[in-house]
Amino acid sequence: MKNIMTVVSQEEIADKIYEMVLEGEITQNMTTPGQFVHVRVSGSTENVLRRPISISDINQDKSQFTITYRADGEGTGKLSRFKPGDAVDLLSPLGSGYPVEPGGHVLIVGGGIGVPPLYELSKQLNAIGVKTTHVLGFNSSKDIFYEEKFRALGETLIATADGSYGTEGFVTDVTRHLTDSFDRFYACGPKVMLKAVSDELDIDGYISLEERMGCGFGVCYACVCQRADGTQAKICTDGPVFRKGEIIL
Ligand code: FES
Repeated sequence: MKNIMTVVSQEEIADKIYEMVLEGEITQNMTTPGQFVHVRVSGSTENVLRRPISISDINQDKSQFTITYRADGEGTGKLSRFKPGDAVDLLSPLGSGYPVEPGGHVLIVGGGIGVPPLYELSKQLNAIGVKTTHVLGFNSSKDIFYEEKFRALGETLIATADGSYGTEGFVTDVTRHLTDSFDRFYACGPKVMLKAVSDELDIDGYISLEERMGCGFGVCYACVCQRADGTQAKICTDGPVFRKGEIIL
């Protein structure tokens, strides 16, 4: 559904990483962590260019939600210059999210711009009494964001590829040394990270795929990927969240 939302605030929280708070009635339809919005960044009415961006925080009491994105292109660069009071045209909420299941101790693993949707997920899991441990991977210390927010919800461990903060290496260089046992995992990040995490963790879990999209609602086939059973899945409507092993990574 197309919506016009109002920018409440916008802040650069790490190198080229922006956090934008938006307000509007459609927030009441946002219940599932892991869904995304498709934000119009440029284009005429006939040729609209949109970008899929994860929802990182939902505050239904205030009818506000947060999107967190990397400004690394012309469209997202333009979005990063929006100011409080500006109107944003977006389709929302789109896609399937993570199932929020009660009980146990879960491992939450995020890489780079895959980290944001995991914050709302962890919030919702903690709200129903699930214990969460978070492992977050970034390229370098200047890229780190949300460490304190995750730490307020549970144990939080950081890996950086260049070793400038936390464990040197990738998220799997942290997860392979964890001694706790976990009931399931939730992951979001680049495909190579999702594959490494899925291969390494001997438990059930859910992954969220980050892909370039076209329409965002199932008609253009720009986001098709292969299921393990040989059928095709559309990331925008069948995902972006899938069960471990469901998709060929
Ligand atoms: Fe168009 Fe998924 S983005 S079908």
